Amino acid sequence: MVGYYPPKDLGEASQSHKKNLRLKYYPQINNTIFASNTFTMQVIKQYIEDNKQRLLDELFELLRFPSVSADPKYKADVLNAADYVAKKLTDAGADKVEVCQTAGYPIVYGEKIIDAALPTVLVYGHYDVQPADPLELWKTPPFEPTIRDGKIYARGACDDKGQFYMHVKAFELMMQTDTLPCNIKFMIEGEEEVGSNNLSIFVKQNKERLKADVVLISDTSMISMEHPSLETGLRGLSYLEVEVTGPNRDLHSGVYGGAVANPATILAKMIASLHDDDNHIAIPGFYDDVTELTETERVELNAAPYDEEEYKMDLDIAEVWGEKGYTTFERTGTRPTLEVNGIWGGYIGEGAKTVLPSKASAKISMRLVPNQTSEKITQLFTDHFLKIAPPFVKVKVTPHHGGEPVVTPTDSIAYKAAQKAIAEAFGKQPIPTRGGGSIPIVALFEAELGLKTVLMGFGLDSDALHSPNEKYDIFNYYKGIETIPLFHKYFAELSK
Ligand code: BES
Ligand code: MN
Ligand code: MN
Repeated sequence: MVGYYPPKDLGEASQSHKKNLRLKYYPQINNTIFASNTFTMQVIKQYIEDNKQRLLDELFELLRFPSVSADPKYKADVLNAADYVAKKLTDAGADKVEVCQTAGYPIVYGEKIIDAALPTVLVYGHYDVQPADPLELWKTPPFEPTIRDGKIYARGACDDKGQFYMHVKAFELMMQTDTLPCNIKFMIEGEEEVGSNNLSIFVKQNKERLKADVVLISDTSMISMEHPSLETGLRGLSYLEVEVTGPNRDLHSGVYGGAVANPATILAKMIASLHDDDNHIAIPGFYDDVTELTETERVELNAAPYDEEEYKMDLDIAEVWGEKGYTTFERTGTRPTLEVNGIWGGYIGEGAKTVLPSKASAKISMRLVPNQTSEKITQLFTDHFLKIAPPFVKVKVTPHHGGEPVVTPTDSIAYKAAQKAIAEAFGKQPIPTRGGGSIPIVALFEAELGLKTVLMGFGLDSDALHSPNEKYDIFNYYKGIETIPLFHKYFAELSK
């Protein structure tokens, strides 16, 4: 079997969607009578085995682009990453591949329609990444992927390059083994980490092109490889910046200190007042629209395995923290939260400078749950924050971006297909969980395209997304490539 499929032929090989490639590539498998499931699994495993190194090398190449969407300094790298994705989609066998221009970074589109009568899966992912700083905390450089202890260390290794690329490679696998059972469309964007504003315009303008039966996304986490899970919800987001201004210039802290309000102190007090003693958020009306879980839902959610000691050990904290009356899973998955993401003002350079700053600022995010809306929460926050501003300072609130919460169905054909695929690949039924993160476009897929989403993520919360030393286990990468064709197979079968 070795060398039956030289990577250099990939571009041409993929152009012809020949029948019975399976016979050509897997003669000895095909000569034996297997149960159909066993057969598919054999084909998948064999393909991954035969292409192991190349599947990894290509991901590494993708990880080497510093495609940081938030920082204009990386503009060329983000654009190059888009081109690379387009090339790889073409090589894998996609038609109508296009790097679609937007007012921001492009969206890479590609599709393979094998039969209009078959169902269509729309795969979404993002090739942009979060900034890598603080750089000095990385053990190896963020854009030079490095393997340590079976894990790939790089910015974007898990979020989301490692995860969306599994779909490109699973698609290649299905094309090369002639096992693609349904139509497939890819939409890989470059602005997820900055709010997907241009993607929402693209979605509204391309409803026909994006027609599908379900959206499939791998950009979330599992509990662990021993406890595979499927996220059934994402939180929404309101992100804004606040600025507190005191005197018209930085002042000598001895000459003026004690007589003029310090904006840093005022900001700290204002922020501290946003949580009460029970860690509830103290913004009037904040919880008005929150749907409480039923007792059954709570029991189900908390049945997922959770080791608090391990959780604390991983983060090196003495105690967990949060809203009184809720468990850790409930706090991160089903309750709204308010976090300071950054806070600054005054002198932060080397050594000391005695100064009373003129301004202090903070970036604040609020995670939202069903039925809250980012517009209303942003308004409630703004009104409240301006109201609590004392007369000694001026306060400005600037909204950044937002996204709406979603709950994904667990009784759909697509969810069942994901369950079956994971059960087969992992040998265990997946546990439903609620994710704490946000993917703003998911709510829009539903609102604009009428499409539900399946969140089939293979990351781990401990993969350090957005943190230094982000990683993705090589095992998870191959396991994803193995599971995805099974999803398509079961989705096509169950759709009949
Ligand atoms: N992939 C994450 C979201 C995620 C991570 C969901 C883990 C569930 C589990 C995504 O790339 C992300 O980071 N989204 C941002 C929102 C965006 C508007 C900046 C987030 O959640 O902070
Ligand atoms: Mn992501
Ligand atoms: Mn992210």
